[in-house]
Amino acid sequence: RLALDQAAGQGTPLYLRLKRSIEEAIEAGVIRPGDALPSERDLAAQADISRVTVRKAVQDLVRSGLLVQRRGSGTFVAPRVDRVEQSLSRLTSFTEDMARRGMTARSRWLDQGVYPPSPEEMMVLGLSSREMVARLARLRLANDTPLAIERASLSASVLPRPETVDSSLYAELQKTGNRPVRAVQRISATNLGEGDAELLGVAPGAAGLSIERISYLASGRVIEFTRSVYRGDTYDFVAELRLSE
Ligand code: GLP
Repeated sequence: RLALDQAAGQGTPLYLRLKRSIEEAIEAGVIRPGDALPSERDLAAQADISRVTVRKAVQDLVRSGLLVQRRGSGTFVAPRVDRVEQSLSRLTSFTEDMARRGMTARSRWLDQGVYPPSPEEMMVLGLSSREMVARLARLRLANDTPLAIERASLSASVLPRPETVDSSLYAELQKTGNRPVRAVQRISATNLGEGDAELLGVAPGAAGLSIERISYLASGRVIEFTRSVYRGDTYDFVAELRLSE
């Protein structure tokens, strides 16, 4: 039985309060992946609100990927994605990682443009204020499941036309002999903000892994500075450890 979220203030719109209650019920495992949601009419009656309000909440959750609608059979909690194991000792691309698992890597582009560099980009990429930076921001999907948001910056001298990258950045860099051979990667815990959570199809505040990669050419020059957020519920990073001699 779903009651309206009480924690939200009285001023919060009803559909947002219902949305929150559904998210909480899913998080708490009261309704599980694959379970059917009560019908629109039942939800309206249970929460004592109009069906229009219920529809708005449900549609928001469908858009954010937490619920799925199947024509004729109703609304269900979206199936959970199997966890993905990612080795921490090899420098691979997202496209290669997914292909190795028999999945197709897809990207939904959020930005592909050339900009004046931020102070941070200038520092990391070793750019002067007269040089430009190519930014590639995209939602990365395996088959149709969103797994990560990646925001990469490269010197525009290496990638003058970022809009020509259509699927794999590393494949594109390979063509010009600029594929990185070494990278330093930093992983930290984060809670997903509203925008990122919506793109990744999880509830706002859900656990995520924030990953920063700085990668280098054999010459020692930094080629890529990427900040990503991966869904915490799908990724296990695995490293092999050896006793040092
Ligand atoms: C990984 C890395 C990114 C890198 C990307 C390239 O996901 N975390 O730093 O930019 O791979 O992947 P692709 O060649 O599929 O674009």
